[in-house]
Amino acid sequence: MIVLSGIQPTGRFHWGNYFGAIRQYVELQNQADAAFYFIANLHALTTVEDAERLRQYTLDAATDLLALGINPDRATLFVQSDVPEVTQLCWLLMTRTPMGLLERCHAYKDKKARGLPADAGLFTYPVLMAADILAYDADTVPVGEDQVQHIEVCRDLAGSFNHLYGDVFVMPKAKIMESAARVPGTDGEKMSKSYNNTIGVFDEPASVRKAIMRIKTDSRPVSEPKDPESDHLFQLYSLFVDDKRREEMAALYRRGGFGYGEVKKALAEVALGYFAEAYEFRKELESTPQRVREVVGDGTAMARKRAGEVLHRAQAACGIKY
Ligand code: TYM
Repeated sequence: MIVLSGIQPTGRFHWGNYFGAIRQYVELQNQADAAFYFIANLHALTTVEDAERLRQYTLDAATDLLALGINPDRATLFVQSDVPEVTQLCWLLMTRTPMGLLERCHAYKDKKARGLPADAGLFTYPVLMAADILAYDADTVPVGEDQVQHIEVCRDLAGSFNHLYGDVFVMPKAKIMESAARVPGTDGEKMSKSYNNTIGVFDEPASVRKAIMRIKTDSRPVSEPKDPESDHLFQLYSLFVDDKRREEMAALYRRGGFGYGEVKKALAEVALGYFAEAYEFRKELESTPQRVREVVGDGTAMARKRAGEVLHRAQAACGIKY
């Protein structure tokens, strides 16, 4: 099993990133023959326009991933733009990409539907993502639900290239942790930076508490029984606890006679406890940025070696090597 995934450095990581993706990265690095995890700064360039911020977010992302358990002995951690082979491969794939396929992709479609101007970077975003995956012969791609469409595009492009030029690319599959496919934000919509409804993994405890207190709840009276499954506050609580505690909370919901404020307090306690160790480890890493850079440097060398081989294979197959 060759595992690969990427994450954009568009700000600090939130619970959606962690439960939708990063937690799986950590689990899979121990089961995989090889695991590649990268910081998708070329993708982030379609939204982050401030150069200094992008630099900072990129280093922050590497530090956060290490703090959350990415182990450089088990996984290759690198920054997308440090592997130019991927952008070369992207062009080869672009020549196999029907416009209609990209027109159906949600990031572009949503922006257009909202009447916002879209650029070619956003439009061709899924092709770069396909190159990211195919460049490492990855077969397993851990992601949240929102990325599944992009992995389908990747499979389409790989299939079309292979059909024309022979067996060049490995066919990848998305891997989704059922329990966290779609982590809700403070308003119940998908947790996302663009909806301004996130809670950060490494936010100061006081801000985490504040964000939790702002989680939207309905206005049913304290005495009324409530359905836990349809409540996003309960869904968030469930991310942090085992089945037994989840069931205890569900029973409380069904019985009624409690306020959402109590659930919020309980959520703050379990969430802060859950990330406490990573929080301390992050502080330690922050004081040794050189170590983080070294890990990323070593990762880049490994990643380029593999991507170079795959690129060569693709170039030879389509007549670019002469
Ligand atoms: P990005 O940076 O938006 O998100 C990183 C990962 O976090 C997951 N995620 C969520 N999962 C569940 N619930 C949520 N509310 C939530 N919010 C975010 C995402 O599904 C993702 O797995 N295009 C990708 C980055 C990328 C990539 C790749 C991924 C670039 N190249 C190649 C895999 C393979 C993205 O924008 O993810």
